[in-house]
Amino acid sequence: MRLTRIFGAAALSTALALPALADQDPAVAARQGQFKLFAHNFGVLGGMAQGRMEYDAAMAQTAADNLFHLTRVDQGRLWPEGTDSSSIDGTRANAAIWDDLDDFVAKFVALQGSVENLQGVAGDGLDDMRTGVMAVGGTCQACHEAYRDEAS
Ligand code: HEC
Repeated sequence: MRLTRIFGAAALSTALALPALADQDPAVAARQGQFKLFAHNFGVLGGMAQGRMEYDAAMAQTAADNLFHLTRVDQGRLWPEGTDSSSIDGTRANAAIWDDLDDFVAKFVALQGSVENLQGVAGDGLDDMRTGVMAVGGTCQACHEAYRDEAS
């Protein structure tokens, strides 16, 4: 009985400790959540562009509209200094971001521009949408290559 209780308590403390272990810097958690939302919406457009999903103008437009608004979220509090992968666990943000913040911001601005263009053409048919999607994908990739660590 006693042992059960102890094991019970141990199991409980493990369960409680897990979220503590995953206790991420809130800015890191927020920016990763933001990128998940980027990918969730961009995935629809990419799926249509690659022929894995049938093109649907309304669905494409909604995803592009979402992406437009998501890429307008102010980034000011999402990238505090000291939240790079050589300083803390749980992030793939390379310290190079803070060495050349102007370039990092320029790459984000490039994303915003390509997404705005995509928003303008997403509902205009598969070919136009695909061209817009390729451009956005290029801006995602350019920043990842420069500033995101490989997945471990
Ligand atoms: C200006 C730079 C930049 C741009 C542009 C950018 N990303 Fe990222 N992305 C990053 C960085 C840096 C990380 C790592 C963040 C971290 O782990 O703290 C990241 C992480 C991610 C992740 C992983 C999130 C997680 O769960 O940890 C996904 C998915 C992602 N990006 C998708 C995208 C998509 C899709 C686009 C384009 C629509 C995009 N990103 C554009 C810099 C960028």
